[in-house]
Amino acid sequence: MKVTVVGAGAVGATCADNIARKELATELVILDIKEGLAEGKAQDMMQTAALLGFDTKIIGSTNDYSKTAGSGVVVITSGIPRKPGMTREELIGTNAGIVKGVAENILKHSPDAILIVISNPMDTMTYLTLKATGLPKNRIIGMGGALDSARFRYQLSQHLGASPTDLNAIVVGGHGDTTMIPLIRLATWNSVLVSALLSAEQQKQIVADTMVGGATLTKLIGTSAWYAPGAAGASLVESIVRDEKKLISCCVSLDGEYGQKDICLGVPVIIGKNGWEKIIDFDLSSEEQSLFSKSADAVRNMNEVLKTL
Ligand code: 2OP
Repeated sequence: MKVTVVGAGAVGATCADNIARKELATELVILDIKEGLAEGKAQDMMQTAALLGFDTKIIGSTNDYSKTAGSGVVVITSGIPRKPGMTREELIGTNAGIVKGVAENILKHSPDAILIVISNPMDTMTYLTLKATGLPKNRIIGMGGALDSARFRYQLSQHLGASPTDLNAIVVGGHGDTTMIPLIRLATWNSVLVSALLSAEQQKQIVADTMVGGATLTKLIGTSAWYAPGAAGASLVESIVRDEKKLISCCVSLDGEYGQKDICLGVPVIIGKNGWEKIIDFDLSSEEQSLFSKSADAVRNMNEVLKTL
């Protein structure tokens, strides 16, 4: 399957690198508006093929969407990233125009594409993409929960001395420092509930550190992170192109699930060749459900800003 990554910045390039190394695409296009950037990164990545042993053909393009024609999956990373002290929400005005334009251009050349949205504020950008394109809802997937769940597993691994791959844990709700909900009650270490192994204080710390996972890195690095966001995007591409039916927390359009409608928010979904194929709608505890409703309120407020732009 042909795959396109829009945006050759750090997140887009890392996502493309993962896609190439794992040979998830027959042809991989990287597109950016900055003259020569995508071509340069594509060539640099192609020069790792002989060293790393992959066969993916990578093409770079400066804003020529005809090169993306016939893509089955498109990852949208375009937009400005966070600076230290900035929330994801503060990016809305600039990134809304960029993401809308990108989605429209992509669909002109790849009308059947499944779109993965990474740009921030991710929940609102996913909702905007849904509204602006009118695509069937299963073809629009926001990446946030996949990333936040990986960060949650990292935090758990640090406290437990465990391998992150042995941990099963998801984050639902919004992809914001105050809107995400790490479901620690349900997290397990190879089937053992972590709540039986960690003190209440440790659990509180893990949840808090997960929620500010992105902000912590922005402060350390000076701009927003890219290794885990890029890898999270590629993991969604993988589940689609290989039709893996992985159960991953992603931001999708809700129609009554978890008590919400007309909003895109992070919930566990099955990801396969048709995009997100099914929402796993299970009962949250009353405390989790109340956090989920608050998260929805905050994201809905942000979505309202779209009307003023
Ligand atoms: C993050 O959390 C970029 O939103 C992304 O790092």
